[in-house]
Amino acid sequence: MDIIGGSSSQLLASRIANESGARLILTEFKEFPDGEQYTRILEKPDTDVVIIQSVVKDPDFITLLQLIDACEDADKITVVIPYMGYARQDKRFKDGEAITSRALARAINADQVILVNIHNEEILKYFNAPAKNLDATGMVGEYLKELKLAKPIVIAPDGGAIGIARNAAEILGTEYDHLEKKRLSGERVTITPKKLDIEEKDIILIDDIISTGGTIAEAISIFKSEASSIHVACVHPALTGNAVLRLFHAGVASITSTDTIEKGTSKVSIAPLVADEIQKI
Ligand code: R5P
Repeated sequence: MDIIGGSSSQLLASRIANESGARLILTEFKEFPDGEQYTRILEKPDTDVVIIQSVVKDPDFITLLQLIDACEDADKITVVIPYMGYARQDKRFKDGEAITSRALARAINADQVILVNIHNEEILKYFNAPAKNLDATGMVGEYLKELKLAKPIVIAPDGGAIGIARNAAEILGTEYDHLEKKRLSGERVTITPKKLDIEEKDIILIDDIISTGGTIAEAISIFKSEASSIHVACVHPALTGNAVLRLFHAGVASITSTDTIEKGTSKVSIAPLVADEIQKI
């Protein structure tokens, strides 16, 4: 089995190769002056290939399609999309809208697809190939344990992230809860204050994705005066624009994420999780 690392997941693909003992195939990427992507696999791959490529920006998806196409001689192609952008466009909210996650999924021609904490598991059904969703929240929980917080409580900013909060809380052996969020725009949300016993506690706000940081910043403003400390964790650190500054400015003590998107906050590598899964194939 060979690992083919895409442009947006170079470090993670290398870690997965090391972890699984599979060969890491060298690939190269360029952008033409008009913005078109160029992708080439520089070694002849095995008949069984695993392509690792997160879709953070639109060109990442083109690169993924190019890598799949370049592997046309393989007998089996597994595509790992650690972070799948557009997953929040998972349904038709208004007439005439595209279900973009479905459009992307349908364009992927592979034998098997592996995702990580996909925003909505319904997306798995959009792929033509069997698709599996891996859960990295246990690994995030294990890392949070290392922070040795005196009185931790895990809080999800909305009901959608309650499963993530529960998983992390179970590992930490602590309590968890969730807030109610209403989205006003791409950057602004309101969160209904909730009576929680958080005095002198170490709050861990956890979500699947942190994008602009608006959701978490709003949650922080509710707890800031009473909590002992506030920590933030997520699986996918999209962290667009000034999100990192926004969170620290709002008062967080730390941000923890995985490397589904490779950022400075990526303290937890999902490489063992993916390596374990591809070895079962
Ligand atoms: C949405 O439902 C997601 O779970 C996240 O809460 C959301 O993507 C966070 O976005 P932002 O950081 O821009 O508020």
